[in-house]
Amino acid sequence: MSLPGTNLPSTVAALIPAAGSGSRLGQGPKAYVEVGALSLLGRSVAALAPYVGEVIVALPAGMELPPGLNARCIVGGPTRQASVHALLEATDARFVLIHDAARPFLPPEVIRAVLDAAQQYGAATAALPVADTLVAQQPDAQKPDAQQPDAPLWGALTPREGLWAVQTPQGFDRELLLRAHRQAVQDGIQATDDAGLVARLGLSVALVPGDARLFKVTTPGDLALARALAPVWDSR
Ligand code: C5P
Repeated sequence: MSLPGTNLPSTVAALIPAAGSGSRLGQGPKAYVEVGALSLLGRSVAALAPYVGEVIVALPAGMELPPGLNARCIVGGPTRQASVHALLEATDARFVLIHDAARPFLPPEVIRAVLDAAQQYGAATAALPVADTLVAQQPDAQKPDAQQPDAPLWGALTPREGLWAVQTPQGFDRELLLRAHRQAVQDGIQATDDAGLVARLGLSVALVPGDARLFKVTTPGDLALARALAPVWDSR
């Protein structure tokens, strides 16, 4: 079977880590939070399902999938990395697409581009060139005594040229990503994404242009933004 817009066979699984506590949002497990009458998780599952043979979701222990989702679920781990590792062990698909449930607006063209690049390079991620000025906060020890103790101060500038902000989805040859996860466990490495685990093995990861609407819902401000965008997104 061909997938819409790609030449990949249906040996692709979408793996969604959704086992986070959502503590920064303060509304219970984040995957279940609703944005425009659909859960964050429901939006990701619906976006990915047409492009893969199977969707597998990692949930917090004791939780069930919201009704009506075209997916199966497993219990996640104590960290995102552990949840993805468990998801990788739960499928034998040739390629996997990893996507955070916390990013509800997933453009089809990004899914297709990441899948194509994963097939070509073995590892690929959606990412956006950094647009803002980047500055490190001054270490507290260097603050002059007269400064307000609570205000962070401007420290060293980091040139933004050539820097990308990494998003999901990320696509991989499953065996390659599994190897990267096993090596990370052996080396005691905890990473915030999967592409970084592949890159630390010295392997190439393709950067595929992502989308500003792929922002991650982390704080109450992000949730307000998502709720404002949902009606526009849903009327496309
Ligand atoms: O905490 P953060 O926003 O970085 O989490 C990114 C994604 O990883 C979320 O979709 C979250 O549900 C998931 N996660 C997980 N298992 C954990 C922690 C986070 O699946 N133990």
